[in-house]
Amino acid sequence: MELYLKAGSPGRGMSAWKVVLLLVGVQCLHVVALKSQLFTRGDALDYSSRKAVDYKTFYLNQKIDHFGFFENGTFKQRYLVADQHWHQAGGGPILFYTGNEGDITWFCNNTGFMWQVAEELGAMLVFAEHRYYGDSMPFGPDSYSDSKHLNYLSSEQALADFAVLIRELKGSWPGARSSAVIAVGGSYGGMLAAWLRMKYPSVVVGALAASAPIWQFPGMVPCGDFHRIVSQDFAASGPNCDVNIRRSWGAIDKIASTAEGLAWLSGTFSLCAPLKSRPDSVAFKEWLQETWVNLAMVDYPYEASFLQPLPAWPVQVRTSLM
Ligand SMILES: *[C@@H]1O[C@H](CO)[C@@H](O)[C@H](O)[C@H]1NC(C)=O
Ligand SMILES: *[C@@H]1O[C@H](CO)[C@@H](O)[C@H](O)[C@H]1NC(C)=O
Repeated sequence: MELYLKAGSPGRGMSAWKVVLLLVGVQCLHVVALKSQLFTRGDALDYSSRKAVDYKTFYLNQKIDHFGFFENGTFKQRYLVADQHWHQAGGGPILFYTGNEGDITWFCNNTGFMWQVAEELGAMLVFAEHRYYGDSMPFGPDSYSDSKHLNYLSSEQALADFAVLIRELKGSWPGARSSAVIAVGGSYGGMLAAWLRMKYPSVVVGALAASAPIWQFPGMVPCGDFHRIVSQDFAASGPNCDVNIRRSWGAIDKIASTAEGLAWLSGTFSLCAPLKSRPDSVAFKEWLQETWVNLAMVDYPYEASFLQPLPAWPVQVRTSLM
């Protein structure tokens, strides 16, 4: 059973920590999809408060290949543990962050939700790094060198790493054996959190999947859905905001059709390398598009610095300047 909670702004409706409690208490709820702010360090109720991020770093030897017989090597998977609030004797849970595509300290530092609920839940926090990111390189500097080395970069292998790590923690961390483990993740990591519960139900009792497109695959949603939602964000953030951006593409094409226009664009946008041709202007538009998409993704209601330092409601701030 999946429960979708539309908590666009935390603090309205059921607060996120209550969702976790619900999850621990009710066995049938195994995956909770939370469409709200998992990343960033704003407080769920008071955006101005910040919780200190304080963790210890560990490494676990993992099989490079969990499923075959040819590759018998191992690598060191990095994981971070914060157990200062853990109520081990009182049945405190383990919140296990299923690392996604990046350095795990980056997600650890920006997943404010886990730091906010740790004390209240008496929870241990574990942040596991995804193989092939940060310090967790199966073949060291050669990991990305060719398809042979990249062969073990898959969500299946990453999920197996997480399951092995959780079993290892439960066996070796004093008092952890009977702690309930809840997977937590955002975006691709949210997909991993949900899939961990689905594929390894004996390892985690529940999963909190935030902004996780677990159904966003070809044929399951209209192909333009993602960009439609990005456009909606801009439309809702100020008069004509979406319209102006849509008009800009044609305007750029027109300006980029002459050498003077290309020079003007290069100067106005302070580009490091001046635009020289029409293909350059296409790349320029893609760069702009990516900026709008990223801005919509981090349109938090409070000041934050997840992808970049930004003010509260950055889309609205941007719109007011247009
Ligand atoms: C691992 O594989 C190599 C060949 O690729 C082999 O020489 C070695 O004996 C294997 N090690 C173990 C422990 O099976
Ligand atoms: C996360 O925080 C730690 C400690 O404050 C710091 O050492 C680390 O560089 C940070 N990671 C990133 C990616 O900013």
